[in-house]
Amino acid sequence: MSCRTVILISGSGSNLQAFIDHLHPEQTDIVAVISNRADAYGLTRAAQAGIPTEVLDHRSFADRASYDRALAELIDRYQPGWVILAGFMRILTPEFVTHYQGRLLNIHPSLLPRYTGLHTHQRALEAGDSEHGATVHFVTEELDGGPAIMQSHVPVLADDTPDTLAERVRQTEHQLYPLAARLCISGRVALVDGQVQLDGSPIAPSGLRLDQFETDMRGHRND
Ligand code: GRF
Repeated sequence: MSCRTVILISGSGSNLQAFIDHLHPEQTDIVAVISNRADAYGLTRAAQAGIPTEVLDHRSFADRASYDRALAELIDRYQPGWVILAGFMRILTPEFVTHYQGRLLNIHPSLLPRYTGLHTHQRALEAGDSEHGATVHFVTEELDGGPAIMQSHVPVLADDTPDTLAERVRQTEHQLYPLAARLCISGRVALVDGQVQLDGSPIAPSGLRLDQFETDMRGHRND
C-alpha cells in the first residue's frame, strides 16, 4: 500500500502540523498540501517542512462540481494512496468522495453522530453534555456521516466557553488524527463493505477510543 498522502487544508493547519511532527516522512510521505485559501497558515507550516504546496481557489470556479473535478486532477498528479482532510472547509461532491472511497479521511470536532456540521462546541455546551470530543472517520457522501475510526473524549467543565472547550478538544486531535491515520496507512484499519475493520475484525460503530486504544497498545508492548 502506498504511503504517499496529500493533505487538504483551509486554515491554521494545526492538525497538519501534527502529521508533520508525528508521521512525516517515516510513516507517510506528505507529497503535497493543497489549500482552497491562499492565506491559510498551514501553507507556511508545509513550506517550512519542505512540503510542496498548492492553492486552488474555489472562487475561480463556476460551481462546486467543476472545482471538485479540478481538485481531484490536482491531487491525482501527486498519486497519493491517501487523502487527508485537515480543516478543509468545503462540502465535497459525491463524485469526488466516490473517487477516493476508502482512502479519504476527515476529522470532525464532535463525538459523531452528535453535532454534524458547524458550531459543535457551542452546541455541546447548550445541550449540557458532560463529555465532548473529536472523531476521525472515513468520508462518504453524507456530511460528517462516514464510518467512525477513532474518537477522543474530553470532559466538559462547568466554566467552559466554546473557545476553552474547542482548545481542549483540539489538543486531543493532534494525537488522535496521526494515530488513526497511521492505522489506516499501515493497512491495519480498512473500510470493508461500508464497515470499519481493525486487523480484519469489525469495530464498534462509534469507532475505537483513543484512551482505550493507547492502553491496549501499552498492553501489547508488554506482552
Ligand atoms: C479542527 O477543529 C478539525 O476538527 C476541523 O477543523 C479544525 C482544523 O483545525 N475539521 P486546524 O486547521 O488543523 O488547526
